[in-house]
Amino acid sequence: MGMMEKIYAKARANVRTIVLPEGDEPRTVQAAAQVAREGLARPVLLGEAERIAAVAREVGADLSGVEIVDPVFDPRTPAYADALYALRKAKGLTREEAARLAADAMYHGVLMVREGDADGLVSGATHTTGDMLRPALQIIKTAPGVRVVSSSFLIQCQNQSLGEDGLLVYADCVVVPCPTAEELAQIAVSAADTARRLCGFDEPRVALLSFSTKGSAKHELVEKVQKAVALAHAIAPDLVLDGEMQPDAALVPEVGASKAPGSPVAGRANVLVFPDLQAGNICYKITQRVAGAEAFAVLQGLAKPCNDLSRGCSVRDIVNTIAATAVQAQ
Ligand code: ACO
Repeated sequence: MGMMEKIYAKARANVRTIVLPEGDEPRTVQAAAQVAREGLARPVLLGEAERIAAVAREVGADLSGVEIVDPVFDPRTPAYADALYALRKAKGLTREEAARLAADAMYHGVLMVREGDADGLVSGATHTTGDMLRPALQIIKTAPGVRVVSSSFLIQCQNQSLGEDGLLVYADCVVVPCPTAEELAQIAVSAADTARRLCGFDEPRVALLSFSTKGSAKHELVEKVQKAVALAHAIAPDLVLDGEMQPDAALVPEVGASKAPGSPVAGRANVLVFPDLQAGNICYKITQRVAGAEAFAVLQGLAKPCNDLSRGCSVRDIVNTIAATAVQAQ
């Protein structure tokens, strides 16, 4: 079974409600119809009912099993506004602004998740990553014990000898531009959790990547990764994690044995942690384009799952992200 088939099977086994704030966006409407038809989640489209129905007709989508909620007329909106005001008044949010935001689809969706009226959220077909992330960070906040929200990319490679039958987890390629050593350690631990819970890895083997392997180069950037390794061991002593190492040492058994002998991770890593967002974002896109790998991202570390789409996403990408969000919500 491939990466997505496994996620679909898990999603169907315990169906969750996923809210889609970009409810009149044509690809989102098609994806909602497909998700409902295939029993992957209970989708909720946010927006004006007539407009959504018109889009559904245009794209030939059957919206049976898809709930439509208009944030402007939703009877829960005043209570959401109160909740938002209570949460953000110390940050200067006024009652009027809270009322306006609670009727805005993006904030309404995030508030539905916070208040337990939906189990997760998927957005980003028309919004930028930052516009989607900020309300989630402000309102859903981090899970207990987690200090930084980050992301993992699931990378399905054609070379089956890599990672777990060709499946690798890359982190962080989306959220934290310049992580501190503490944040890098947290990203590594969160990525292992995603690998276990979403990808079904029995043993995540986490490599913290650098341009140096085990002290082969001396530089403050290398020292930051070394510090992150020590901190990650302290947060999660049982996790199989090592670094700093170069990607060839992490992935290729012979190179790992020669550059990092005795490492429990070198040569057999299935989770790769990048030192910063430039490295992570560039590497995932190069893996996708040059190696022809299938890739999609989930956020990790939020108290409840919210996931971002690329604005260039396909209907299939949205369906995949909804299914993964449903699994994270289980
Ligand atoms: N984890 C937890 N909380 C966070 C994080 C984080 N990683 N980042 C910000 N926050 C919190 C802040 O503490 C703040 O909380 P508060 O308002 O309750 O005090 C709130 O979120 C908003 O923080 P800001 O500082 O206002 O938000 P910022 O402008 O830093 O934006 C963002 C945060 C959007 C995540 C920013 O770091 C960012 O733009 N990251 C890069 C996103 C991106 O462009 N990725 C690449 C493209 S995506 C792709 O290629 C698939």
